[in-house]
Amino acid sequence: MKIAVLPGDGIGPEIVAEAVKALQALDLRFELETAVVGGAAFEATGHPLPEATLKLAKAADAVLFGAVGDWKYDKLERALRPEQAILGLRKELGLFANFRPAICHAQLTDASSLKPELVAGLDILIIRELTGDIYFGQPRGRRSAPDGHFPGAEEAFDTMRYSRPEIERIAHVAFQAARKRGGRLTSVDKANVLETFQFWKDVVSEVHAQYPDVQLDHLYVDNAAMQLVKAPKQFDVIVTGNMFGDILSDAAAMLTGSIGMLPSASLDADNKGLYEPSHGSAPDIAGKGVANPLATILSAAMMLRFSLNQEEAATRLEAAVQGVLEGGLRTGDIASAGCRVVGTQAMGDAVAARLRAQR
Ligand code: IPM
Ligand code: MG
Repeated sequence: MKIAVLPGDGIGPEIVAEAVKALQALDLRFELETAVVGGAAFEATGHPLPEATLKLAKAADAVLFGAVGDWKYDKLERALRPEQAILGLRKELGLFANFRPAICHAQLTDASSLKPELVAGLDILIIRELTGDIYFGQPRGRRSAPDGHFPGAEEAFDTMRYSRPEIERIAHVAFQAARKRGGRLTSVDKANVLETFQFWKDVVSEVHAQYPDVQLDHLYVDNAAMQLVKAPKQFDVIVTGNMFGDILSDAAAMLTGSIGMLPSASLDADNKGLYEPSHGSAPDIAGKGVANPLATILSAAMMLRFSLNQEEAATRLEAAVQGVLEGGLRTGDIASAGCRVVGTQAMGDAVAARLRAQR
């Protein structure tokens, strides 16, 4: 099992190190190879996604990714900014299906900003289309000055676009995921205003004919945002476009107590994938050893399940995280009364120790 390890920027290297530690505590053999990505790659090679990194990612069975980005690159032309690395990887590897589960661990109901009864037992799955939409419309960012900004310009625009095959394939992924869970799918759009999302809604409805056992609902994105914080447990699986999925998944993350808890999987048509926490590089806390590594560790569990066919190991890893939380260990972002607050490494050590103890 070949894994490309791309730590990236900010807290990326710290949290990825803990996920690697957890993987190594399993009784499995991995071939891990690390490469630079994002701002770190720009510093080393002049490009956020160097050819060698892309090649490594393409050759691997799965990619374990940390995070990219730092404010200090805001003055670079867009094509050289760290974010282009993750967008480029998604596009180049054809990772169109992004799974962002939002699960509220029983021990963390107090850490959520919502009332405990609203989030206790929460288990929803956001499926975000990841290689289309306004993120990849043309001519994206082509008109800015070399520093990526628009001095003296009168307008700027991005194009929102989806093709039928792009919507159909993510719809199939979503219906199949819903079928394996609670059998309910909510498609989120903005069909009342945008042509792109009227089309989205129509195509998802057409695909539904092949999944009569799944209950399909449609929701406008503004209403979906409201419902997510009003009564999040009403959802089972949500499927939506790239842009709305970006926004709604951050909102859903907070329901679970902290965005530091939310893993993600980005899959291609053959379940090859890239696994990353849903949060960013958090440059403000980078190097302080306080970041929560659990989103990355849980992403590694998703990697074991989806790309490496190691369901049993995935379950063990998730159980180890659960056990550590039950034992009262918390990073600062999920701290609550009566718990012991630890740093990034101690949290990773605790997960690894549990895995070793089970062996
Ligand atoms: C995410 C991030 C990325 C996105 C950024 C870093 C480009 O916010 O994965 O949600 O917008 O997709
Ligand atoms: Mg985001």
